[in-house]
Amino acid sequence: RWTAVDAYTFPHSHPASRPNTKALENTLTASKAAGLSNYSLSPAQGKFLALHCRASGVTHALEVGTLGGYSAIWVASENPQLRLTTVEYNRKHVEVARKNIELAGLSDRIEVIHGAGIDVLAHLRNEVKVGTRPMFGFVFIDADKVNNWKYFMLAKDMVKPNSVICVDNVVREGQLADLRDTDPYVMASRQVVENAGKEPGVDSVVIQTVGEKSYDGWLWAVVS
Ligand code: DHB
Ligand code: MG
Repeated sequence: RWTAVDAYTFPHSHPASRPNTKALENTLTASKAAGLSNYSLSPAQGKFLALHCRASGVTHALEVGTLGGYSAIWVASENPQLRLTTVEYNRKHVEVARKNIELAGLSDRIEVIHGAGIDVLAHLRNEVKVGTRPMFGFVFIDADKVNNWKYFMLAKDMVKPNSVICVDNVVREGQLADLRDTDPYVMASRQVVENAGKEPGVDSVVIQTVGEKSYDGWLWAVVS
């Protein structure tokens, strides 16, 4: 039913005639052909992040974990004034994403940085600190899950007041709440949920999601 509801609702919310439909479909096809994993957002999730950025007037967004560029293309294509910086460790993913972004006509507004998330975010944080890079208005963390809390804290230092930091895949089909489960990804999800709840200047909530990407959820945090 989750998949059926996405299949029913999405074409009504976002008819296939929209300008970004082809680019998004091409991105998924090319990513699959290149052997990338199927961990991109669902169309509905991609559009949700894009609409959030529009409603909040985000002009500079940051993503950790580009994969094939699907979420990046959603957010940028729905927001003509927005610039997105996206960080990816895997060289092959970087190549596939850059090609997808170029074909989508978004190379001028999406910057793909190749490197380890911690190193790149530390570098970006320094640029923001010295004023050579504007602060971000939205951050999407969707990379190697064990570093979620480190990414969160680095991101927290580079956002404007009242910005959202979203961390993908924290619910993990409910494994989050099974405290006997010591899977490293689950432990990292618990860490980011528990620490965000205690962190001064951060107010957070976990939203469970179902749909064509099964059952998961994200942490949604506002940094004051
Ligand atoms: C995984 C990673 C993702 O980013 C995702 O959306 C789903 C699953 C994973 O590594 O298990
Ligand atoms: Mg994810």
